[in-house]
Amino acid sequence: MLSFAPLLGLLSIALTIGPQGGTMAQSLRISTYNLRYDSMPNNITVAETLSSLPDPLTPPTYYGDTGEQPWSTRRVKVYQHLDQQGVVLAGFQEALVRQVDDLATLFGDGWNWVGVGRDDGVAAGEFSPVFYKKSAIDLVSNDSFWLSNTPFEPSKFPGAGSFRICTATHLILKTDPAHPISFTYLNTHLDDQSDAERRLAASLILTRARYEAYKTGRPVIVTGDFNSEATGTDSGAYQIITGQIAPVAINATFAAKFAVPNGTLDDFKMLDLKAEVAREYVSGEYATYTGFNAPGDASVYTRIDFVLGDSTKRWSIDKYHVGSSLTDDGVLASDHRPVIADITLH
Ligand SMILES: *[C@@H]1O[C@H](CO)[C@@H](O)[C@H](O)[C@H]1NC(C)=O
Ligand SMILES: *[C@@H]1O[C@H](CO)[C@@H](O)[C@H](O)[C@H]1NC(C)=O
Ligand SMILES: *[C@@H]1O[C@H](CO)[C@@H](O)[C@H](O)[C@H]1NC(C)=O
Ligand SMILES: *[C@@H]1O[C@H](CO)[C@@H](O)[C@H](O)[C@H]1NC(C)=O
Repeated sequence: MLSFAPLLGLLSIALTIGPQGGTMAQSLRISTYNLRYDSMPNNITVAETLSSLPDPLTPPTYYGDTGEQPWSTRRVKVYQHLDQQGVVLAGFQEALVRQVDDLATLFGDGWNWVGVGRDDGVAAGEFSPVFYKKSAIDLVSNDSFWLSNTPFEPSKFPGAGSFRICTATHLILKTDPAHPISFTYLNTHLDDQSDAERRLAASLILTRARYEAYKTGRPVIVTGDFNSEATGTDSGAYQIITGQIAPVAINATFAAKFAVPNGTLDDFKMLDLKAEVAREYVSGEYATYTGFNAPGDASVYTRIDFVLGDSTKRWSIDKYHVGSSLTDDGVLASDHRPVIADITLH
């Protein structure tokens, strides 16, 4: 029936009006990108970097396509990639406060960000910050919780390598200002050493996501570096958040605060948006983590960074792309790659 051209006009009108007769769907381009923390700090300012960018008309100095360059060399590439792609909402991982500040400088006054340092809830340690373009998105509220047994205070799960955090935001997409669309966005980074931490983290985030879906009746999007793959021995977090196995027990205070009425959203889960999009619109690379290794080095070739949409499906996924962090000057902008998704919110 949809192949009849005259009906397409009617169909597009129906979609524009939407099922509730008032909501118009709107799209956004979102990214998740683990930046690699600033492991080689220096005092080179963003302004100094920008004023010494190489002549774009001549071949660049070659750095050698393996190995880590300082953040001061990598940061402009991170910004340029996302800016060039037209991303309006960006979740990052491993951002130390200098990196947050540098990105705020690079993105400029048209952007805002929220998040806290995971080690003290202020500025110490890595952030999982959420950056958003002010012309496209309004922030309603934000908070952070720890992926531990005491989620409301800076804390570390026993056996985890680090404090771990999730940044939670209530946002309004206003690409069409006459028809703003609210949604919840959670951005996180699970532990690299403890699968038990990752399972707990997925259980906490799933509980929070379900509560938001219930309370707001709006879409919930989760992005993050899970430090673990979708299948295999270490895939507990992915399996829990996607509803393949049961969550583990979480802090009772957290569970009570983010409870939904019994019998509500019982089968709630998060869906891997890479599996929800038509295959011709899945493009780019497979792996999201490559280390600072040579191209093609399979030893660290894994997909561990995800974009997930909640199972009430008040969204559709239009395109899914994994970019490259390697440029012709041989610089790897990060040991991860940016994951970029085009999502329509309904
Ligand atoms: C940056 O500058 C400060 C102040 O001059 C200095 O104490 C610090 O050692 C410098 N850091 C690096 C990594 O050069
Ligand atoms: C984000 O949340 C923190 C903690 O509640 C708050 O202090 C801050 O003002 C919020 N940021 C924005 C931009 O609303
Ligand atoms: C749950 O978390 C809260 C706040 O982080 C903490 O005060 C409480 O002791 C935790 N409950 C248990 C059983 O650990
Ligand atoms: C929810 O409902 C189930 C089945 O009706 C019941 O076994 C369970 O105790 C209820 N839980 C709560 C918290 O009321």
